[in-house]
Amino acid sequence: MGVTQVGIIGCGTMGIGIAQLVLQKGYNVIIKEINQELLNKGLNGINKGLEKLCEKGKLKAEEKEHLLKQLKGTTNYSDLKECDVIIEAVFEDLKVKTEVFASLDEVCKKDAIFASNTSSLPISKLAACTSRKDKCIGLHFFNPVAVMPLVEVIKTIVTDNKVIQTVTDFVKSLGKIPILAKDNAGFIVNLLLTPYLLDAIRAVEKGVASIEDIDTAMKLGCNHPMGPLMLADLIGLDVLYNSTLIFFEEYKERRFASPPLLTKMVTLGFLGKKTGRGFYDWSDPNNVKPSNLEI
Ligand code: 3HC
Repeated sequence: MGVTQVGIIGCGTMGIGIAQLVLQKGYNVIIKEINQELLNKGLNGINKGLEKLCEKGKLKAEEKEHLLKQLKGTTNYSDLKECDVIIEAVFEDLKVKTEVFASLDEVCKKDAIFASNTSSLPISKLAACTSRKDKCIGLHFFNPVAVMPLVEVIKTIVTDNKVIQTVTDFVKSLGKIPILAKDNAGFIVNLLLTPYLLDAIRAVEKGVASIEDIDTAMKLGCNHPMGPLMLADLIGLDVLYNSTLIFFEEYKERRFASPPLLTKMVTLGFLGKKTGRGFYDWSDPNNVKPSNLEI
């Protein structure tokens, strides 16, 4: 099956990043949000991302204008009816995501493939609320989408092999490297990454070392591009917290439970880079410094 028209649901960090990438690789893109204000914010974000590439000399102004013509924004599901592949990238909440899948199922053409960028929710639960369970799949991109080379392709026990082939080819056409994972909470990367990030937060709680030193330890001691606390801020502490709920429900293992410090930070709205404060204070992008937390 050929892919020409791609739908993206959600204008959060991941939705915008995926939309920009797919657009740059020559596909027609329709991005949907729940209201015009959020949609405008998303479209602006894509525009800015392309503008940055122009400033760096990686994209010509006329190429940018051409790409923007291939991009449409909408607040109506019915505008996605001709899409070949739709990638859902909304808030990490099962109820919200199942509503998206059910709404898409009502309007989209029968052979359209529904993909979810969920980081932790079972794809089977999303497929279950559609009439096309064999055409539902996980497509898990990593943040920042423009830079990270991997995409996890997640198949359920009923995903059609042709669908797996189509999305695998699609991922390759985006210049990314696909790996196939089974539909277990966390797939491969987050199954291993999440306990590591949670352990780093527990180390802060226990006063093992300062935020900065814990991150420096993993950067310089293990050659990681960034330390676990800065990475947690980049991912979003709400995203991390929500995944602990899903993982704990599935595995019932303490290592997946949210440390109280993470719960408190999310309760207070300190969600990391996107809100300007998490384990780091991001208010000045040129001087990101550890947050002042009384633990
Ligand atoms: N959007 C677009 N491009 C970006 C970007 C962003 N948000 N952040 C960095 N870049 C680009 C820069 O423009 C630059 O491109 P250039 O070489 O063409 O100029 C290049 O990436 C390098 O950027 P910098 O020199 O500013 O920064 P670093 O070299 O320090 O790299 C980083 C930044 C790529 C974010 C690096 O620190 C890194 O790889 N960190 C780890 C990220 C990671 O682990 N992500 C996975 C998170 S888990 C996840 O997403 C799963 C989810 O389900 C939770």
